[in-house]
Amino acid sequence: MDYSEKVMDHFANPRNCRVMEDANGVGTVGNPTCGDLMTIYIKVEDNVIQDISFQTFGCGAAIATSSMITEIAVGKTVEEALQISRNDVAEELDGLPPIKMHCSNLAADGLQAAIENYKENNQ
Ligand code: FES
Repeated sequence: MDYSEKVMDHFANPRNCRVMEDANGVGTVGNPTCGDLMTIYIKVEDNVIQDISFQTFGCGAAIATSSMITEIAVGKTVEEALQISRNDVAEELDGLPPIKMHCSNLAADGLQAAIENYKENNQ
């Protein structure tokens, strides 16, 4: 299977892979088919994602996509981060093999779940 250099880099050196104790939004999503699980943590201040991290129990592509989405989302407003699509994540990684596209869905869905959680906590 062909993985881009960016995918291999984010898999081998994941960015922001840690639990965030003081997160104000947390989202966990899973894929029932492969059984992979991803948790995204965000810290939002003044409506901007100041910090974001992840924990992923999954395949290499899921780890690479979680790492990449933390780099895409940091510094964005909540509204901008909600616009990050499943395809954006794969494109930033210079593509994923078609059979692995569902792994980038997990990253985008995890971020959206974390934002929903943040909104619920701050109503
Ligand atoms: Fe399930 Fe990649 S194989 S997220």
